[in-house]
Amino acid sequence: MRKPFLKVALASTLVFGAVGAQAAFAQPVGVNQKQPVNVFDKKVVNKINAENIYNNIDYLSQTPRVAGTESEYNAVQYIKSQFETFGYETEIQPFTFYGYTPPSSMEVTIDGYEGELQPRSFTYSVNGNVSGELVFAGLGTVEELEGADLTGKIALIQRGSISFAEKVLNAAEKGAAGVIVFNNAEGPLSGTLGEHNEEYVPALALSKAEGEAILALLESGGTLTASLTIEGAEAGEKVSHNVIATKKPTSKKKASDDIIVVGSHHDSVAGAPGANDDASGTAMTIELARVFKDIPTDTEIRFVTFGAEELGLIGSYHYVDSLSDDEISRMIANFNLDMVGSRDAGDLVMMTLDGKENLVTELSQSSSERLNGEPTPVYQGGRSDHVPFAEAGIPAALFIHSPTEPWYHSPEDTIDKISKEKLQDTAEIVGTAIYDKARFDNMDPKPKKKHKMKAAPEMVYEQDVK
Ligand code: BES
Ligand code: ZN
Repeated sequence: MRKPFLKVALASTLVFGAVGAQAAFAQPVGVNQKQPVNVFDKKVVNKINAENIYNNIDYLSQTPRVAGTESEYNAVQYIKSQFETFGYETEIQPFTFYGYTPPSSMEVTIDGYEGELQPRSFTYSVNGNVSGELVFAGLGTVEELEGADLTGKIALIQRGSISFAEKVLNAAEKGAAGVIVFNNAEGPLSGTLGEHNEEYVPALALSKAEGEAILALLESGGTLTASLTIEGAEAGEKVSHNVIATKKPTSKKKASDDIIVVGSHHDSVAGAPGANDDASGTAMTIELARVFKDIPTDTEIRFVTFGAEELGLIGSYHYVDSLSDDEISRMIANFNLDMVGSRDAGDLVMMTLDGKENLVTELSQSSSERLNGEPTPVYQGGRSDHVPFAEAGIPAALFIHSPTEPWYHSPEDTIDKISKEKLQDTAEIVGTAIYDKARFDNMDPKPKKKHKMKAAPEMVYEQDVK
């Protein structure tokens, strides 16, 4: 009964304000002052248990969950079984993508070069074991290579001006057996060739210092032979999966047409257990599914975990693409939970693709004001699974703590850095925001027939201490 209560509060402020000194009795609604938590909030809050979220993060973050791997599929099966335990109709939605497995080993040797070289591969570098005369090919542009014959040679190319892929293809076109690209800025070079191409020859990257030292040796005279080995790289079609649990409106008679999607991504980057990114959001999605299983709603709620987010939001794009026009027009909100539990990150914020408020941020600002006495700030931001929803015109927001923790995308993104307080707080804000819209008693623009309010404004009471 949030709206009626606010009306009462506003009315009393005006009344007291009108009689001068008595205005002191009015309760101004300000920052850091808890607003009354209503009976509906309590229904949700009382059920949310951060222990459950924590335990599921612990379970999911035992290994990295790279899209298309067995460990991602194990996570998918686990999430499905959790949703099914709560009684939801659950679907696994497979999709294919073009993936790349980095090499298991790589080496560059140059005869006569004393120092140790530490090459890195490009994403989409192809396997091979090649050797030949080393030649400097400048920036590797078409103009620079005009008339050159690199047949059987290894091209040493400097970073800059054109893409890495273009450098490799230009050199290959002139017959090169392999390519070494060196950085034009300090530090190692980690790049991508963008996509797989049959025309590529083996290509590795060196630092600026390494490249310049080799170039100096080459320019001091004589012929150098270079060898390049790349093993274990794999490019090809892979399969990842979304997991979708659906809670239909509790009663068909009074159901609204609306659909709310609560989502997160279950995949992680290679080498990172992804406890916060994003086992935290996945476990929170599971917990909200558990919380809502016995709560009547007039709105359809879909709990969805996406695959292959880390490879370019592939799962969420696939999901949104798979929706009918009718489903898209009925989808009123996407709550995207991504990195919602780090002890070492900043405060909770919401990010929308256009930086503007929408239904998701409005509901969540109201709920965080009711629960914590202050709204959750809204910033502009993409980089996660709310993007495809926003692009389809669906109100969507990312829930994340900002600034990000130092363990982001690292092997240190582990369970010991997870804060149960942050999990509880975020789940309460999101859960009560969803219920504010999805419950039978909400004040929709079209009032429902034969609708009886369950709680009057006077029944509003303060939040218990948890
Ligand atoms: N959880 C991050 C998104 C994120 C991190 C948003 C920090 C805001 C601050 C997500 O899993 C991620 O890493 N996304 C990729 C982009 C995606 C399109 C591959 C990223 O930001 O590099
Ligand atoms: Zn993430």
